[in-house]
Amino acid sequence: MCGIAACILENDKAAPILLGCVKKLEYRGYDSVGIATLNSSIIVEKDEGKINDFEESLDLSKFQGRIGIGHVRWATHGPPTRENAHPHLDCDGKIAIVHNGIIENYMELKNELKSEGHNFASETDTEVIAHLIEKYKNRGHNLEEAVRRALIRLKGAYAIAVISSDEPDKIIGARKESPLIVAKGERGYFLASDIPAILDHARDVIFLDDNEMVIIDDTGARIKDLEGNIKKKEYKYIEWTPEMAEKGGYDYFMLKEIHEQPQVLRDTLREINTIQRVVDEIGEIKRICFVACGTSYHAAFVGKYLFESILHIPTDVIIASEFQYTANALDKETLTIFITQSGETADTLNALRAVNKKSKTLAIVNVLGSTATREADHVIYTRAGPEIGVAATKTYISQLACIYMLAAAIGRKTEIVKDLRKLPDEMEKILEKEELIKEIARTYKNKSDFLFIGRGFSYPTALEGALKLKEISYIHAEGYASGELKHGPIALIEKGVPVVAIAPPPLPLKTGAKIVKDEEEFRNSHSLTLSNVKEVKARGAEVIGLGAEDDEEFKKNTDKYISFNPSIREEISPLLYIIPLQLLAYHISVMKGEDPDHPRNLAKCVTVV
Ligand code: F6R
Repeated sequence: MCGIAACILENDKAAPILLGCVKKLEYRGYDSVGIATLNSSIIVEKDEGKINDFEESLDLSKFQGRIGIGHVRWATHGPPTRENAHPHLDCDGKIAIVHNGIIENYMELKNELKSEGHNFASETDTEVIAHLIEKYKNRGHNLEEAVRRALIRLKGAYAIAVISSDEPDKIIGARKESPLIVAKGERGYFLASDIPAILDHARDVIFLDDNEMVIIDDTGARIKDLEGNIKKKEYKYIEWTPEMAEKGGYDYFMLKEIHEQPQVLRDTLREINTIQRVVDEIGEIKRICFVACGTSYHAAFVGKYLFESILHIPTDVIIASEFQYTANALDKETLTIFITQSGETADTLNALRAVNKKSKTLAIVNVLGSTATREADHVIYTRAGPEIGVAATKTYISQLACIYMLAAAIGRKTEIVKDLRKLPDEMEKILEKEELIKEIARTYKNKSDFLFIGRGFSYPTALEGALKLKEISYIHAEGYASGELKHGPIALIEKGVPVVAIAPPPLPLKTGAKIVKDEEEFRNSHSLTLSNVKEVKARGAEVIGLGAEDDEEFKKNTDKYISFNPSIREEISPLLYIIPLQLLAYHISVMKGEDPDHPRNLAKCVTVV
């Protein structure tokens, strides 16, 4: 998705610092890039393609001035070309703007402006805003008033940063339904769509709310609503460090983030008291409805198995973009839980807004101050730190940990948290098996299809393993509940098709914890998956098994086997068994020459529906 960075510095030149900030937005997924700086006039450079190529082609000496705006674009209106890249200018090149979001009434506005003589250089919705500001400036308004009047005319979503050579000491920002932060540091002020963009320079941040503008000049930053009233807002200190948003010696962010998972789990587990407090505030819960997209949806899906099997609370799990078509039976005794790493996913936010007080809402979110955290009744932070790789890894683990702790808090089952505390050490042991996983990746990297199968708690793991593989290696992969194979997918099995089978051990017969209602049922899930493994093996599949070290029966029916400590039983296995599947996807992607941090067509934060 698009990303914005802007700065107004006290003494330094804007261009190199701005470029550094824009590079930190790379992870969002983009197809073009641009910057503009302001001295007595505006200098713009932009192009389609990668930031590094753009940087190499730039002559930084031509960018004068301590004020600038920058952007990475993910094409929506108009293809990824130089003309459509941001910043966009008005007719006279005196106003420059960068924009995230979509202006829904841009055609109507464009026609109006064209009929008044404005000339357009791009196909974007954004350029309309530059000309609209120009229109109001031409009527004699100053920049702030012209921007305010333009914003009132816009329908849709925006985060913008605007500069004008007529008022060369100022930046104006504004937001509606697309995030924008104001940050104050030693060198000056910054605007950005995401925290990682500014971490090198500033940690004190204000999160703008919808329909707010910020006017930054040498007197500081003033925030106003669209009626022009001053809004008083406090800076919040961001605890994320710049190092957290660096690769730290790893080749890719994704690999670093996979390896961070034991520590992330330790950090997230410290939230148990906060989670207990949130649960006490929420009060009685008779039904739960999870809503999320993608990897967050898979975390929610584990939640369904957990809440129904352990707490016996009826639990639905709904893909956020489908929520509006199904969720008509909410009531005050339902807790609707929104899981979102970014807190900005448009589908998830739309669902959150659609609840409209019909049920209590809780958001489980990674990004501090993001929209979901401000719109839900209750919030739990996952504490995974910044996730830069587009494919979610460590935030999945932290979401799962929060869901398990939520179950522990609702059901007053402290033994769940005790079980989770064993996992970071087990994760470290699994990460030590990376060479084995690389070897598996080498063996199967040229296959065109993969199946992932599992039952019960392992079914969401199968879905997530398949998603990881397809999104970064572009190999077709499907996750199935093992029992579904015979209802269709088994037709795909022929000699050599890799099937990843996930079958952790069932609970031991004598469990002190008694957290599973029917141990026999769980035994069944394991032995039934083994039957499915035999079925696919008999038809020529190559089976990659994930199971307990001592599970000889399973091992002998596989071609490759990744073994886990047998004490990690089915109900907490999702937090551990996903790790080799993340590594498998990562290594296949790298071996195929792909860039796992920037998969094609994907964006870190999907702010369009
Ligand atoms: C996959 C992935 C996506 C996100 C999805 C939801 O690796 O990252 O599927 O999980 O776009 O994003 P959030 O959690 O930010 O709402």
